[in-house]
Amino acid sequence: MNTPKSRTGHLFVLEGIDGSGKTCVCEQLTEILRSENYDVVRLREPTHESQWGKEIREKSPGGELTPDEELELYTKDREWHITTKIQPALEEGKVVLMDRYFFASGAYQSTVLDLHWREILQINREELSAPEPDIVFILDVPAEIGLERATGRSGKANLQFEKLDRLIRVRRNYLEIAEHDISNVKLIDSLKPLQQVIYEIHKIIIDFINNSKSEPL
Ligand code: TYD
Repeated sequence: MNTPKSRTGHLFVLEGIDGSGKTCVCEQLTEILRSENYDVVRLREPTHESQWGKEIREKSPGGELTPDEELELYTKDREWHITTKIQPALEEGKVVLMDRYFFASGAYQSTVLDLHWREILQINREELSAPEPDIVFILDVPAEIGLERATGRSGKANLQFEKLDRLIRVRRNYLEIAEHDISNVKLIDSLKPLQQVIYEIHKIIIDFINNSKSEPL
């Protein structure tokens, strides 16, 4: 686990299946925390900046990448992200809010590779020395609801079925991660109204920051 002494900031991660609402929550939380004078850096993966993040965004939706190529690109994109953005922001004492992180690789890539989510998380922790989040919020909704929210009801029935089948497995992985991983995970019921979800996460973040201020060095 990587928690260097120079890390004075906080790292909070939002995860969940497609359509779980994490991007919306991340945007609004950023606004709220900034209005309360927290120095917030909002980041997302895959990135829009590195050559690897761009390649994923270009090729992945059309199915041009093999599962192995995808995992490699996500890993390289993340390595770049850690060195260029995440670590520096943490060293500068910022509050880093991330829309997806290495838990997404575990939950998603393990559904198409012969690797357990645990192994993928381990690769990220050991080979990338990925900074460990203070809290990972997993926004949980049933796969059917996530798919409906993410794509509407449109699309060919068989394609929708394939997507649903995959999301069911991704959600199962996230639930297992929430229960068994070593990280500090909070499972959030994201069927609740958006404002309530934001309120809940905001309260947990503020309590965490306040408590860590009062901890002796
Ligand atoms: P998403 O959060 O929907 O990105 P955005 O809203 O910024 O376009 O993520 C895009 C997809 O990437 C999503 O289906 C999950 C997938 N993904 C992985 O499979 N592995 C990963 O490591 C990451 C970060 C994302």
